[in-house]
Amino acid sequence: MKDCVHLKAPGNWSNDPNGFIYYQGEYHLFYQHFPYAPRWGTMHWGHAVSRDLVHWEHLGVALFPTKDYDRNGIFSGSALEIDGRMHLYYSAVKYEQPSAEDIHLAEGDRYETSQAMLISRDGRHFDNWEDKRQIIPVLTDPALGDRKDTRDPKVWREGDHYYMVLGSTRGGTGRVLFFRSDDGLSWTYANQYASRELGRVLECPDLARLDDGYLFLGSPMGITDDGLSYADQAMYARADFDPETCRMTLRDPLAFLDHGLDLYAPQSTLDREGRRVVVAWMRMPQPVPEAPDGRGPWNGMMCLPRVVQLREGRVCFPVHPDVSAAFTRPVSDLSPLAEHKPVRLRATLREGDCLDLGGYQVRLRDGRIEGDRSAVFAGLQGRRLIARSPRLTGACCRLDIFIDPNLIELFINEGEYVLSHVVYGLGTQLDGPLEQICTI
Ligand code: FRU
Repeated sequence: MKDCVHLKAPGNWSNDPNGFIYYQGEYHLFYQHFPYAPRWGTMHWGHAVSRDLVHWEHLGVALFPTKDYDRNGIFSGSALEIDGRMHLYYSAVKYEQPSAEDIHLAEGDRYETSQAMLISRDGRHFDNWEDKRQIIPVLTDPALGDRKDTRDPKVWREGDHYYMVLGSTRGGTGRVLFFRSDDGLSWTYANQYASRELGRVLECPDLARLDDGYLFLGSPMGITDDGLSYADQAMYARADFDPETCRMTLRDPLAFLDHGLDLYAPQSTLDREGRRVVVAWMRMPQPVPEAPDGRGPWNGMMCLPRVVQLREGRVCFPVHPDVSAAFTRPVSDLSPLAEHKPVRLRATLREGDCLDLGGYQVRLRDGRIEGDRSAVFAGLQGRRLIARSPRLTGACCRLDIFIDPNLIELFINEGEYVLSHVVYGLGTQLDGPLEQICTI
């Protein structure tokens, strides 16, 4: 099975992107996957590859539980090439006791987490019996981090050392832990960073070098308290990091990575040209039913890959140029969606202008872009229907818009802000000052 533009599992459940890497001429993207139903359960790593970040080929399940320490789940993690081999780092989950009525969930949500890895010689073969090892045992010292909620190793190389950042918590405050290694195999605790800004637990941290300083990505839990889904959000900030001491500081307060507030658990890697690129999970409140193309009911998809760009000291997230370049065929409405082909459109909005995209409304009002899915998100209670960008400067605003049957992504002023919304039941009609409408 193949996917065009937005990667989804071939069926059933997917969440976070994992192990995103450009390796031996191909992009590999793994993802949290429950292969038995379109809901969360015992985690596996699904696997897909692409040569262009546009066309994805599914390669099935790469990682699955085989060891006592990972018997209940292969949680999120990352990939690194060392001496030509693909090293996959993940969090290994073991339940205290599986729930009697559903062994894919832990009784009382009680479990322990260690960090583990699997080395693959070619990124195609994964020996889940022979090539795994546990690298950081369950933490027993609460001063260090939580024995349950310490997870999602993101590993990178800098100078002669390897570094790992983990999400964790202590006393109800999120934190990140740093470990160091000389060989990528044996790891020593180095330092930690804690802040109220990191929510009650910090998930999926990522620290990436930029031309000037670092970019910190993280997903703090429980940071929006208006009772609407979702309370956990993907955030970013510019950061400084000292590789000698593993001391991290943030330059600015954390900001939303995406203003639609559906996006979560971003992960970055370097692309073929050495650009920093980010993908993330789009959370969906309900599964999409079986489609005529043979894909079973599914829930969860990846956003478009976004490039990290520094513009006058600010971080912007424009769509990856290889993705926009793939949209070359002019069309006049959203009918390509019926054949699972996404549509790209562009527009320049002035204050008061509106667009109607198959029932999804976009407005420039009070200097902000407003995305309104009220008409294409029916019957879902307790959900955010309208999202707004921060206030923009300038008399007009440029929009680059990508539409899939279940996802609309608005890139505002070349990625100054991004607003993405999951949708259900888009129509085909378009209305408003649209400039270029293309499909793949
Ligand atoms: C984030 C997350 C990670 C964890 C994984 C489990 O969405 O909760 O912290 O590793 O999902 O599926």
